[in-house]
Amino acid sequence: MTRTVYVNGSYLPEADATVSIFDRGFLMADAVYEVTSVLDGKLIDFAGHCARLRRSLSELGMPSPCTDDALLAIHRELVARNGLVDGMIYLQVSRGNPGDRDFAFPDASVPPTLVLFTQSKPGLADSPQAKVGMKVIGIDDIRWGRRDIKTVQLLYPSMGKMMAKKAGADDAWMIEDGFVTEGTSNNAYIVTGGRIVTRNLGHEILHGITRAAVLRFAREAQMEVEERPFTLDEAKAADEAFITSASAFVMPVVAIDGVPVGSGTPGPVARRLRELYLDEMRKAAI
Ligand code: PDD
Repeated sequence: MTRTVYVNGSYLPEADATVSIFDRGFLMADAVYEVTSVLDGKLIDFAGHCARLRRSLSELGMPSPCTDDALLAIHRELVARNGLVDGMIYLQVSRGNPGDRDFAFPDASVPPTLVLFTQSKPGLADSPQAKVGMKVIGIDDIRWGRRDIKTVQLLYPSMGKMMAKKAGADDAWMIEDGFVTEGTSNNAYIVTGGRIVTRNLGHEILHGITRAAVLRFAREAQMEVEERPFTLDEAKAADEAFITSASAFVMPVVAIDGVPVGSGTPGPVARRLRELYLDEMRKAAI
């Protein structure tokens, strides 16, 4: 089946969808994005992703392409047209096509470019990796200073993934001033001294939508949460480690730089949080 995608008001077969070569997303990485999971044809935490999109747009002074209701209708239409059961919807907004290359932002009459497409991942919530866990390596965090804005500047995270692959691992945790910031496309956690520890919010990390939900469920389940930076050495000596993201949910980390974390198998806290998250989010899916 040919995938139907959305570009600036039109639903098109993917091969017919185009964006200008002068689009600022293409030339300047002047664009923001969101990834929303779909389970059983329903959107997971759509309101959270919408709220963060609004914040990213506002931090960059980028015009909004449409209302949240219109965005919801587009997401649902794409799910329906593509018969999507499990997977993700990728959304990108750029500062549009000013008709030429110029460092200065175009004036407000240039409309933003809005693109959405589906990615089918049958059995997304039953990922085999959740049963065995993932391996990470530590790398320097050399990204820009506003990682709280979800921009499409993903070159270094892509390079980080490749460094991990080369080292026989699955992902990289990035380190700045001696402390872990986050994974290449996820938030990072350890379990130590009976507490779930994850970096506090700031400009240094993306404010994960999954992070917010998982910490809420953890606190509701009387688990202790500490939001503070931690080092890679502390992570290597921790009882457990895991990551969260909209597409991986809660995923155990079983080795860091080749050192097993805890027993070297997925730990009970990560397993419980994954179950809690998936149960609660499926109930609230729209
Ligand atoms: N990545 N940190 C970074 C750098 C990310 O790119 C992501 C998400 C997260 C987790 O955020 P959330 O829980 O809202 O997905 C943290 C998405 C999934 C991606 O780029 O595909």
